[in-house]
Amino acid sequence: MPAFTASAPGKIILFGEHAVVYGQPAIAVPLSQVRARAVVTANLPAGQKGIAHPVSPQPGLSSVIVDAPDISLRTTLADLPAQHPLARAVLLVFEALGVSQPPSCSVRIRSTIPLASGLGSGAAVSVAVIRALSAFLGHPLPLEQVSALAFEVEKIHHGTPSGIDNSVVTFNKPVYYQRGRPVEILKLPAAFHILVANSGVPSPTAVVVGDVRRGWQADPSGYEAQFAAIGDLSRQARQLIESGSPHSLGPLMFQNHALLSQLDVSYPQLDALVEAARDSGALGAKMSGGGRGGAMIALVQEQNAARVAAALQEAGAANVIRTKVGKSGKQVDK
Ligand code: PMV
Repeated sequence: MPAFTASAPGKIILFGEHAVVYGQPAIAVPLSQVRARAVVTANLPAGQKGIAHPVSPQPGLSSVIVDAPDISLRTTLADLPAQHPLARAVLLVFEALGVSQPPSCSVRIRSTIPLASGLGSGAAVSVAVIRALSAFLGHPLPLEQVSALAFEVEKIHHGTPSGIDNSVVTFNKPVYYQRGRPVEILKLPAAFHILVANSGVPSPTAVVVGDVRRGWQADPSGYEAQFAAIGDLSRQARQLIESGSPHSLGPLMFQNHALLSQLDVSYPQLDALVEAARDSGALGAKMSGGGRGGAMIALVQEQNAARVAAALQEAGAANVIRTKVGKSGKQVDK
């Protein structure tokens, strides 16, 4: 039986994180240089040529192996808590396809997306698993359903997810996203260059999202004013991107970073990286994703990219990825 493989990219949020959880618009683009990949294969019965797995040959949860070497996990579905994100993704597919006795199979997951870094690792893993497993079962799910199932898994990662991560990762296109509205694919008439620097400080999104929620509960009108200001930046940014002026986005990015700092989701290392980007001539920079660590992004002119990347490394970035976003809704790898 053949192997069924699916992969999904990482993502960066250009504008609007956190505010998007409260109904404001946000903009995200896929980051194809880092990816999650899932491979689903049928387990060979013991004695048959090849690698036989010591699992029950009978259909059922104990005959499904979940193998994620990047997090040193190898177990059967029966032994994984149902609320583990990988178990949840697999179980959601069985449920969606009405599979009550899962066939003996292995789901192997590899990912190059750093964990807890604001780059959408959780969503990418879920999307890859859901696509590969549904194809293995003979019913590849449509993208809308893939995204909807990945959103359910996001609840484990984010607590109260907005839905932006599963949307951008599933559709693998730049998106303008607002909760409760259809996902809009952005037109990108002009390409632009983004550097993605990882602060090297892991920060689970659910914790930060939970802190923002407590802040909002304590001061709803104050927080909502900040969220609205961030939402305005996303609207302005969309205009600039779709009218072919992405190089004018810089000031909006610095403003977005300042608003996120006021929400207390930035972090000294992220602020230092944003300042290093500014000082070395980036057009704009901000933290990206959940914050308190994880990634920051800088908008650069192509001719200045190497200089800004060196400054980010000098300022402590664990690594810097260079990506070109553009043209006609496609993201081009560098
Ligand atoms: O940290 P990430 O990459 O998972 O991004 C989270 C984005 C938030 O707006 C903070 C949460 C959400 O669900 O939209």
